[in-house]
Amino acid sequence: MDTEHMVRTFVEYFEDRGHRRITGSTLLPPPGDPVLFTTSGMHPLTPYLEGRPHPLGRRLVNVQRCLRTTDLEEVGDATHLTVFEMLGTWSLGDYEGPLSLDWGYGLLTDGLGIDPGLLYATVHGGDDRTGPDTASLRLWQDRGVPVELTVEENWWSNGPVGPCGPDSEIFLWSGDTPPRSTPTQDDRWVEVWNHVMMRHRRLEDGSLVPLPQRNVDTGLGVERLASLLQGKSSVFDCDVFAPWRRLVPALWPSLDEPSLRLVYDHLRSAVVVTGDGVRPANTGRGYVLRRLVRRVLTVLWRDDPSRSLGDLPDELVSHTLDRFRQQGEPGDVRRLLLQEEHRFRQLLERGRKVLSRPRFQGPLDDEDFRYLHDTHGLPRDLVMSLRQE
Ligand code: SER
Repeated sequence: MDTEHMVRTFVEYFEDRGHRRITGSTLLPPPGDPVLFTTSGMHPLTPYLEGRPHPLGRRLVNVQRCLRTTDLEEVGDATHLTVFEMLGTWSLGDYEGPLSLDWGYGLLTDGLGIDPGLLYATVHGGDDRTGPDTASLRLWQDRGVPVELTVEENWWSNGPVGPCGPDSEIFLWSGDTPPRSTPTQDDRWVEVWNHVMMRHRRLEDGSLVPLPQRNVDTGLGVERLASLLQGKSSVFDCDVFAPWRRLVPALWPSLDEPSLRLVYDHLRSAVVVTGDGVRPANTGRGYVLRRLVRRVLTVLWRDDPSRSLGDLPDELVSHTLDRFRQQGEPGDVRRLLLQEEHRFRQLLERGRKVLSRPRFQGPLDDEDFRYLHDTHGLPRDLVMSLRQE
């Protein structure tokens, strides 16, 4: 099943159950919001989870592009991406968690054809603030799905304050041999769908107060489920990455698999971030974009400094902008990436020159790092990697 088909099946399944499709937002949260990027489908819906009536009603479904920099170091494994798409459903004070889980089970098994024997669920086991989530536990027991109870892993929040609640996560087995252990003990159980019983708000002092309504917020990672449905062992092998797989190894044949994965992920993310209007900068969102591009270039130049983003086929940029339904011109995105590459080359040249001075031959202290940063524009991580050359 290709990704488009999977997304359509998901959305239609929930439309048939009274949900209205809302348009996903860009990666940029509304002004005044404390986070840099939209990290989850619920994020643009925060005011409605907190009680404001949504113009389209109490049952919503959408596809939302998300960006998580917390996962940056994990990129390259089988399941983590920087920019990814999340399918989401919401009950804004309407139905409760067990119905959401039951529909989720129905969609995965009847709708998408997954063998029920390959599912496992986790449920919040209770702590000093909230009791165990017995309603979710009972639902899974009724459906014959094995359950593991956890505490920290089954509590979802978007940040230190704001809406939060216990969740129940659905895992799908990705191993070649039959499963023998539980999701927390074997990472071949891949988390695919999180159902959050979003009924609390955490205050600055850490205490919980009830939200004005009992919501359910669910999120399912598109590329993750697509790769499993397509029998692939990593997100980089699903159809979404097919043009990258076809074009990049041909262009830069000596890159190994971990480097290729980083290049696919970071370049694709850089295109999407640029497509949403972000420009490279030394702070905030622009710095995330800058880091993505620099990490790619560092990998590309490790064994061949003549490689350039200018060699990147247009098709990769336009495919990505189309996939994320972005309006940007592929030519503009390429130009921006190339300007950033040029800037990075100049910075590296300057950095090498400055670091060859006798003053910087021994160990560096904070004062040196401050000077290198403030006077020469050389961030600490760049200085460190130049000294390892
Ligand atoms: N907000 C939850 C998550 O990001 C469910 O959508 O996992």
